[in-house]
Amino acid sequence: MDIQTLEHIALFDKCRQFTKAREIQAAGLYPYFKPISESEDTVVTIEGKKRIMLGSNNYLGLTHHPKVLEAAQRALYQYGSGCTGSRFLNGTLDLHRQLEDALARFLGKEECLVFSTGYNANLGFISALVGRGDVVMLDKLDHASIVDGAKMSFGETERFTHGDLASLDRKLERAGARGSMIVVDGVYSMEGDIADLPGLLRVARKHGAAVAVDDAHALGVLGPNGDGTAAHFGLIEETDIIAGTFSKSLASIGGFVAAAEPIIHYIRHHSRPLIFTASLPPANTAGVIAALEVLQVETDRRDRLWANTRHLHEGFRSLGFEIGPTETPIVPVLIGPMEQTFIMWRRLFDAGVFTNPVMPPAVQPSQCRLRTSVMATHTPDQIDYCLEQFAIIGRELGVI
Ligand SMILES: Cc1ncc(COP(=O)(O)O)c(C=O)c1O
Repeated sequence: MDIQTLEHIALFDKCRQFTKAREIQAAGLYPYFKPISESEDTVVTIEGKKRIMLGSNNYLGLTHHPKVLEAAQRALYQYGSGCTGSRFLNGTLDLHRQLEDALARFLGKEECLVFSTGYNANLGFISALVGRGDVVMLDKLDHASIVDGAKMSFGETERFTHGDLASLDRKLERAGARGSMIVVDGVYSMEGDIADLPGLLRVARKHGAAVAVDDAHALGVLGPNGDGTAAHFGLIEETDIIAGTFSKSLASIGGFVAAAEPIIHYIRHHSRPLIFTASLPPANTAGVIAALEVLQVETDRRDRLWANTRHLHEGFRSLGFEIGPTETPIVPVLIGPMEQTFIMWRRLFDAGVFTNPVMPPAVQPSQCRLRTSVMATHTPDQIDYCLEQFAIIGRELGVI
């Protein structure tokens, strides 16, 4: 569109005035939308150079597992490249039903419903269940998809300070006898800490509230079988709803909600983000079924993930980096002001280490971080190399 047209439409003023990203681009520090031209699990090629991927959610390293690739390829040829329709109408495959049965069994829930993304799963179950007159209670660090699901619902939203059960208790007291649901991340996506599910359930039961856990970062990571936060605490039955995504440990795309049969039956018939979008493509669905099987058989992957997690935590802490309350493979490294964080990101990128910058409004302007995350398939040498580069650059920039 030419500049003339832009200038005559008030709506587009904001587009002309948005210069922040261009300034960072001009300074050569822009870290976003970097195209990956090749991926070999823990190593990716960006701008013609191989770099260690220290920012992926591919926790178990299953994106390149031969069984996952083979299942995806077989489904591609058996069912075609897409479903071209909604789950509700022409877009449900027997593969979707197989995956739902397998997930329900794995998570210890009666029924499961598969969505096209984890984002849609959160939009879908929250907006379906929280009706007019109901209230949904969100932790302030809940993922954006949970916040958006609450916005999309016809109910009221209350937000409590991260992990503050007393504040939650007061808000539920005020909500009275209305229908209420608490929704939290099982593992917080930016901090890496684990929700206090036993405490949340105690408060919830006192007030007759439902509890839903988004296990996006917990599936394949927490629990005796990689079965998530509720299993980690031995509270599968007590946890009313378990939601999650296939875009992390399950190495694909898609999402799910698991619960008792009447809850899933209701969501299936009332969820706009399920009904008004096309269903998960065949290759992805088959890939996730295979990944879920591998996750349960190759338990050593989880052992390696946790060994690597300890390695990275101890490495950062012994170098003097601040990594906050993380208890999981998500390790946010506090850098400080925005510009210093962009510079640190760029220097690491040039040294062959890919990380993800976390900037305002996600965090306070002085609290910018580089979010790192470790995979089962990182070698100890790769982790040591990343730590070494963090140490060299962090010292030069005065971060440590
Ligand atoms: C906690 C949490 N929930 C939901 C999602 C959305 O998942 P998806 O990428 O499958 O849409 C994410 C992904 O960023 C997440 O971190």
